[in-house]
Amino acid sequence: MGFFDFLTEEIAIDLGTANTLIIHNDKVVVDAPSIVARDRITGKIIAVGREAARMQGKTHENIKTIRPLKDGVIADFDASEKMINMFIKDIPALKKRWLTPSLRMVVCIPSGITEVEMRAVKESCERVNGKEVYLIHEPMAAAIGIGVDIMQPKGNMVIDIGGGTTEIAVIALGGIVCDKSVKIAGDVFTNDIVYYMRTQHNLYVGERTAEKIKIQIGAATEDLELPPEEMDVQGRDLLTGKPKQVQTSYREIAKALDKSILRIEDAVMETLSQTPPELAADIYNTGIYLAGGGSMLRGLDKRLSQKTDLPVYIAEDPLRAVVRGTGICLKNLSKYKSVLIK
Ligand SMILES: Nc1ncnc2c1ncn2[C@@H]1O[C@H](COP(=O)(O)OP(=O)(O)O)[C@@H](O)[C@H]1O
Ligand SMILES: [Mg+2]
Repeated sequence: MGFFDFLTEEIAIDLGTANTLIIHNDKVVVDAPSIVARDRITGKIIAVGREAARMQGKTHENIKTIRPLKDGVIADFDASEKMINMFIKDIPALKKRWLTPSLRMVVCIPSGITEVEMRAVKESCERVNGKEVYLIHEPMAAAIGIGVDIMQPKGNMVIDIGGGTTEIAVIALGGIVCDKSVKIAGDVFTNDIVYYMRTQHNLYVGERTAEKIKIQIGAATEDLELPPEEMDVQGRDLLTGKPKQVQTSYREIAKALDKSILRIEDAVMETLSQTPPELAADIYNTGIYLAGGGSMLRGLDKRLSQKTDLPVYIAEDPLRAVVRGTGICLKNLSKYKSVLIK
């Protein structure tokens, strides 16, 4: 602790492909979609987060909404940096300060991103007054956030199903022993629903509507204990061009998502088959932990459990498990030094 530490603020960031979350003083102070809206003529960012999300799919030719981290990679560096910048500046406690504090930050990054992209994220953070910036891989942060004691000589399997990627990792002794990242996650599920509506109902729906269907009645299996009610969906009729409404059920959505979920199952099976036997023995006893928004798809835990013959647990508040873990690292920097990427 230095004399000027009172000028330093600590923040933990989960820079997700779908949602960005920030913890400051043990509280989640930002929880917003990773979206920016840009004016095409001036190039200026006019909105980020929730405000930009509201514009999605409803823009005209002069405004464009961008998901800077789509597919688990940084698709737009400039937009990502501006987004991080605006989210940090929006933290109420920091806005009140008359001196911009220097920041100690731990940032969780999608594990698919390259060295170059990692450096870019770090530099972006440094430009917003990040004096000490540490990065952490997503499955590690998820495991810590779930409450797994990652430092133990014991294997644990964590699956984080986000927007762009599903990260599967076996963790022991503070390191990732084997892992796999597949680009099948929430966004693909949403697109599957768009495609299903188009081909089965001749109904053209936008991404926002498809995501709403996924959250309201989405399912990973037709065999649900508590099935949701049917849902009315509005869109455009592909044949007549007129707005129309159809009714759909979770069974249909389970059919629409089946192929994608099969690919996640395959990736899980492959990771299990690469797990060293002693750790596999641990996982037999501890089971599999799920985190990320995608893990909330109805029946997904049950389906994975049937496939692997292992118990599957969903993290408490799965959308926040990663930022929770990132926040725990921030508060215990010396304990977790070895899992951070400096
Ligand atoms: N109840 C739900 N059922 C199914 N999917 C959900 C649910 N809630 C959120 N999602 C999906 O979870 C994804 C976002 O998860 P998140 O963990 O925030 O992703 P990321 O870490 O990539 O930002 C989105 O694709 C969203 O549609
Ligand atoms: Mg995430």
